[in-house]
Amino acid sequence: MRMFKQPEEFYDIGGDIRPAAAKKGFFSHIRPRWCQPEAIAFSNTYYLGFLCVFFLLLEFVTGVLLMVYYAPTPAEAYQSVILLETEVPFGSLMRELHRLGGECMVAVVVLHMLRVFVTDSYGGKYSLTWLSGVGLLLCTLFLAFSGYLLPWDQLAFWAVTIGTSMAEKIPLIGDTLTVILRGGAEFGQNGLLRFYLLHIVWLPAVLFILLGIHYYRVTRVNSLSLPPGKSAVKPKVRFFPTVFLSEINLSLALLLVLVMISYAGYQAPLENHADPTHTPLHTQAPWFFLWLQGTLKFGSTFLFGICLPASLLLLLFVLPMFAGKERKHIFKRPVHLVLTVIFIVYLVVATMLGTAKYGVSLHPVVALVQKFLPEEMDGPFQYAAFSSLQQGVYQSNKKIDFNSLDPQFASLVKQLFAATADLKEENSLAQAESILIVEDWQEEIKRLSLRIHFQTANNGEMKTEEAVSYVYQKDPSASSKTGSGRE
Ligand code: HEM
Repeated sequence: MRMFKQPEEFYDIGGDIRPAAAKKGFFSHIRPRWCQPEAIAFSNTYYLGFLCVFFLLLEFVTGVLLMVYYAPTPAEAYQSVILLETEVPFGSLMRELHRLGGECMVAVVVLHMLRVFVTDSYGGKYSLTWLSGVGLLLCTLFLAFSGYLLPWDQLAFWAVTIGTSMAEKIPLIGDTLTVILRGGAEFGQNGLLRFYLLHIVWLPAVLFILLGIHYYRVTRVNSLSLPPGKSAVKPKVRFFPTVFLSEINLSLALLLVLVMISYAGYQAPLENHADPTHTPLHTQAPWFFLWLQGTLKFGSTFLFGICLPASLLLLLFVLPMFAGKERKHIFKRPVHLVLTVIFIVYLVVATMLGTAKYGVSLHPVVALVQKFLPEEMDGPFQYAAFSSLQQGVYQSNKKIDFNSLDPQFASLVKQLFAATADLKEENSLAQAESILIVEDWQEEIKRLSLRIHFQTANNGEMKTEEAVSYVYQKDPSASSKTGSGRE
């Protein structure tokens, strides 16, 4: 009796082969059986489809664990994230893996789409796979965007408030849509709950349905495309256990790398608690939407923020209609190649324009205060060892005995004073003096205030710029976050 079917008993579908009898059971139905070595080779797929699945599973597992502690209310969300970071065993690792995995997933999904375009695997019989892929791209982007709000910090609150305000520009339905998204005129309890439900229920549900269609088409209906111009060969590679085990090995190696990145110092960002009454100095979109923020600099929000992205999306949906009859690598499709290069250059330039560097420029004195004692996040003084912050008043125009100070703190103060002197020279200010005050505020809390007095060159008026920050003793059992703000 023969244990395994011979390859001859498999029949051809779309350039690859599957068994005639493979009709029983969900998993035996969905998984591929045989693969063409050249189709699954790194040089054909760059393993990007596999990476999409890997990051999706990582997001799913870490997300379920984060859900146990996360509380989706404006009063508790931020505290629950701090609790996760400080008290819950491996909570901080879970948060870092979830954040890092989400960002990597956006990147690999976009790159995977690009590779499918490059190898001309999107037209004809691949059209439905491509269309389900466009749906997956949208789900991935909205999952990342909805997750952005959940920590309920300043960064999240203002980025999402500004992001959703773009919907206001959609004619006729804009205002209603914004209210539906935010759950009211501005984000609050309703908006947070809506984004949370989108993030954990609706978007994952749609994504898993689309992924079912996508994966079934790739593995069982068409099979993975060979590089253009190549035809199927024998022998093929068995999916189970050969390909499957190599994917498991790669997944474990990737997981190890991510854990190492996390332990090497990667920190999921967390700014101060969301404050609807105080707009931060620089509000920046998540990096994957920076191109949109940059594009807005070209002109009207309606044209560049609504019409342009909607046209790009429409183009993605109708792209299979423009695919040629015969598949060709992008290097043999000069028009596609030129348009792709132009598009990538546009994305890079628009992304750069969206960064804070090209945003509204701050007054140099405000920029200096922000550099040393930032308003929304930790800066050099907050990162210094708690014990090094020695109580006292440090003035740039008074003599200080730096030898009596902790070397780390002394070096920061020197840098501050040097930057103040540069400020005077480079910005032709008649006078500029910085004063740093360190106070032992409470046990385990120090209050830092940085004042810069300066005299404007044009009318000689004296002005003061000030920032205040509270630094907590970094102790595993206490919050390491700092609270800072202007007074
Ligand atoms: C969550 C997001 C996604 C996941 C998990 C995913 C998963 C996969 C996997 C595992 C493969 C087979 C391996 C490979 O080609 O590397 C594949 C192929 C494919 N994907 Fe995706 N994909 C996603 C997003 C997309 C997007 C955004 C598009 C395009 C808009 C797309 C279009 C395709 C096409 C056309 C194929 C067949 C390619 C071929 O036969 O050579 N996918 N996908």
